[in-house]
Amino acid sequence: MINPQFISAISFFLISYSPLILAQQPYIRQATALCDSRDNSTSVLGYTCNGVRRSCQAYLTFRAQPSFNSVSTISTLLSVNSSQLADLNSVPENAIFETNRMVLIPVTCSCSDQYYQVNASYVIRRGDTYLDIANNTFEGLSTCQALQVQNDIPARDLLPGERITVPLRCACPTQNQSNNGVNYLLSYLVIWTEFVSSIASRFGANTDETLAANGLSETDPNIYPFTTLLIPLQDPPTSTQITAPQPPPPPSSTPPPSVPPPSGGSSKTWIYVVVGVVGGLFLASVVGAVVFCKKKKKPETVASSSQTFESVTKPIGKDADDEDSQDFLESISSMALSLKVYTFEELKSATENFSPNCLIKGSVYRGTINGDYAAIKKINGDVSKEINLLNKINHFNLIRLSGVSFKEGNWYLVYEYASNGPLSDWIYHKSEEKLMDWNKRLQIALDVSAGLNYLHRYTTPPHVHKDLNSSNVLLDRDFRAKIANFGLARSAEGEEGQFALTRHIVGTKGYMAPEYLENGIISPKLDVYAFGVLLLEILTGKEVSMLYEEAHTQLPDILAPVLSENDGQENMRKLMDPSLQGKYPQDLALVLFRLIYSCLKKDPSDRPNMDDVFQSLSRISTSSLSGEWAISISENQTAPR
Ligand SMILES: *[C@@H]1O[C@H](CO)[C@@H](O)[C@H](O)[C@H]1NC(C)=O
Ligand SMILES: *[C@@H]1O[C@H](CO)[C@@H](O)[C@H](O)[C@H]1NC(C)=O
Ligand SMILES: *[C@@H]1O[C@H](CO)[C@@H](O)[C@H](O)[C@H]1NC(C)=O
Ligand SMILES: *[C@@H]1O[C@H](CO)[C@@H](O)[C@H](O)[C@H]1NC(C)=O
Ligand SMILES: *[C@@H]1O[C@H](CO)[C@@H](O)[C@H](O)[C@H]1NC(C)=O
Repeated sequence: MINPQFISAISFFLISYSPLILAQQPYIRQATALCDSRDNSTSVLGYTCNGVRRSCQAYLTFRAQPSFNSVSTISTLLSVNSSQLADLNSVPENAIFETNRMVLIPVTCSCSDQYYQVNASYVIRRGDTYLDIANNTFEGLSTCQALQVQNDIPARDLLPGERITVPLRCACPTQNQSNNGVNYLLSYLVIWTEFVSSIASRFGANTDETLAANGLSETDPNIYPFTTLLIPLQDPPTSTQITAPQPPPPPSSTPPPSVPPPSGGSSKTWIYVVVGVVGGLFLASVVGAVVFCKKKKKPETVASSSQTFESVTKPIGKDADDEDSQDFLESISSMALSLKVYTFEELKSATENFSPNCLIKGSVYRGTINGDYAAIKKINGDVSKEINLLNKINHFNLIRLSGVSFKEGNWYLVYEYASNGPLSDWIYHKSEEKLMDWNKRLQIALDVSAGLNYLHRYTTPPHVHKDLNSSNVLLDRDFRAKIANFGLARSAEGEEGQFALTRHIVGTKGYMAPEYLENGIISPKLDVYAFGVLLLEILTGKEVSMLYEEAHTQLPDILAPVLSENDGQENMRKLMDPSLQGKYPQDLALVLFRLIYSCLKKDPSDRPNMDDVFQSLSRISTSSLSGEWAISISENQTAPR
């Protein structure tokens, strides 16, 4: 009999390792800004005519903006039939859309020369560049490179009033897609904090097919805002898909975050819907093969900024004997195909015999396995809990365990590698080149909250990380955060109170919630507290110990002046990382400080849960990235109030 797990593992293998077989249109990545580049290896000039038909019905998305916010203005901009557009979005023909509302665009896509396109026509306005037109006005539905190819006007000669052709990016299904029941392709405009899986599930599309349609793979799933992602669809998209809350994620038995349907009216409602999309961060399939360790680290970082209490009481039993370990190892190799069991020799050669050159810090080494970096951690003790947990979870923001090995009483765990190392290297000890801007910090906070939310809500039983701190958050090459170090993670429920109370108080000083320190109570609210501390560090650029010094008695005291009616702004300026001065939106920063304040509440039941935190951060992030606040910054700079 063939084990179904085996089959799914094999198909996973085929899909993730042979993207070229299924790839239909190479994803554009970050090529949209390189207007002078002649590189046409991505789909930067358009999607290649490789479909069954040379002309077909296709769909685009567009987000309403102040100058293009009605059925008629959007139809005119994109040169499409307004009554069809109104029908598809289930709105009357005179409808006005809220800013940022997603609008579906029906188009007839056809092949011109070698690329599929829909022609729109556009009259140049004063100051327009090809990049402005493609990226800002058309939001990424076209590219500056394609505009230059289609219009024989050199970039410097664009004159106001001149009419140009704007090729909009669309495509028709290939033979392979047709065979799989795909009838339409939707050119979806990506926004920040979205993932292929969340977008695909919104439109009821298959994530693997979506990755394949764009030449992406599970090991390289990164997508960027202001680019189009092709979504293979069986049926035309509907207005409910763009307005409805996110459907429940596949790996979970818990209900999805409740998002009220938009009731029309304020633009806030729409932001909430965007949050609904973002709520589907369940990246069962999305794992970047990236992550941690730098070339050669100074050994003093070993002690790290945070002192742990681990020496007081060892959380990990050291009694696991070799025989048990061998049994466990065998059970791993028999059941979990996603986890590779390495021989010790393989790891030795990967790390030049565990040479100091490869030491990242502590007992973590950088290894080279099949040409890719991996982080290899040596652990003396029982690792079965961590392995069992990490083997079950699969989330972009939780470090991925890819393999294990066991030798002479020591376990070796092989993780994905985060090339930018721990967050702590970036928020303190910073040098000039290690400064992080506001949006990067916000993205990291959002990533960490997404990872914790997954751990709390979508693992069964729910788990608590218990040792969140700035050294346990690792940054990949795109500065996306991955939570690591699950050595202390516990089930939040367990058998009858087994984990609800503990006398073994372990964790990192400064991050541990009062109820845990005093009574050993374990709940997901521990992570919420630690997250509040972490977010405070991220915004202030100060280590937790320094923050305690400034706060004198309790950490929340430090926030009271910022939240006060009088001089709140001035106090915020004093608390905020000096390198951010004048470069952050004050209103959103205030919301963040309020959020931190609520996370640090003494009574755990007064703290928000991680889902609330994640939703708030998504909203803040959406507003921050919409750029609406850019104006308020310059106002503040020129006329401080
Ligand atoms: C279509 O799929 C077959 C196998 O199912 C593969 O051999 C072929 O290369 C694919 N064609 C394209 C264009 O992806
Ligand atoms: C890319 O450009 C080269 C030369 O300019 C051309 O021969 C080739 O067909 C182009 N490839 C694609 C996919 O457009
Ligand atoms: C737009 O579409 C509608 C319905 O499909 C059709 O009746 C109408 O003639 C079209 N208008 C134009 C200008 O093509
Ligand atoms: C779009 O415009 C290009 C030239 O600007 C032309 O070659 C092509 O035929 C047009 N396509 C359609 C479908 O009108
Ligand atoms: C594209 O447009 C958006 C919003 O208008 C802007 O934030 C972004 O910086 C632009 N990208 C480029 C490469 O200009």
